[in-house]
Amino acid sequence: MKHLIDIMELTTEEINELIATAEDIMANPDKYCEACKRKKLATLFYEPSTRTRLSFEAAMLELGGSVLGFSEASSSSVSKGESVADTARTVSCYADIIAMRHPKEGAPLVASKFATVPVINAGDGGHNHPTQTLTDLLTIKREKGRLSRLTIGCCGDLKFGRTVHSLIFAMSRYPEVDFILISPEELRIPEHVRGECLDKTGIPYQETTSLEDAMPKLDILYMTRVQRERFFNEQDYIRLKDSYILTPDKLGNARKDLSILHPLPRVNEISTAIDTDPRACYFRQALCGKYIRMALILKLLEVRV
Ligand code: NCD
Repeated sequence: MKHLIDIMELTTEEINELIATAEDIMANPDKYCEACKRKKLATLFYEPSTRTRLSFEAAMLELGGSVLGFSEASSSSVSKGESVADTARTVSCYADIIAMRHPKEGAPLVASKFATVPVINAGDGGHNHPTQTLTDLLTIKREKGRLSRLTIGCCGDLKFGRTVHSLIFAMSRYPEVDFILISPEELRIPEHVRGECLDKTGIPYQETTSLEDAMPKLDILYMTRVQRERFFNEQDYIRLKDSYILTPDKLGNARKDLSILHPLPRVNEISTAIDTDPRACYFRQALCGKYIRMALILKLLEVRV
């Protein structure tokens, strides 16, 4: 049985196929509207979410299936002390596929060992977020027409931002991609991403604290929120939260064809004055999240259309 816990479990070919399916669904939604009839998706969310949970649910509903689940741990038996393993086993009796978000790194992996249906990691702590990365790749493909020959600037909380970790792993497999990692000293990319990906693959990357210096070189600017919930103390969060605020004047030396992405939610890091700039892709990106998750559900349930 197939799960999706880490983006690197998918080959580049499989990622390209998912993108092609998502684009076909966008063009021909009627063809897919009964593809998952009688199938159920369970969303087990132990952490807050708007886009990931609702796009998963919308995805299953648009495939003709149904959804069940919980959106906070306190409303499930977790609050009585049930383990992730037991929950996964139980929910496998009621649903055909599970999407799980959890504050603990590795929890969806544990669930996948005990579930008897496919499990999708919908974000595990500060670790990984493979379906956000699929969303990002579909967005980049649509905005840029390619996934190669790109200078990608990742800006903000690169330490705790799980979307950036998965994005770096995924993009490192495409030719002529390089990264500029823009963060405060304390929020630099973690050692495991450096060791297992950046240094191992030899992909060119630079680290800087200056968004201004990086800006003119970028094809993609991937902004992120400072992950308040992962800080050990509030003072550090308050000190670092406004390290980068993208305002229209900061785009002065940016390329005309820059694409600005953000997994959302945004707090302060992108001024709303940017939203009407054609280079702002983040709401189109949120829409891509539904279509790529439709493609992923079809793949994991082995439904052919
Ligand atoms: C991200 C997440 O949950 O990691 N959000 C999302 O899934 N779109 C980013 C974030 O919360 O900052």
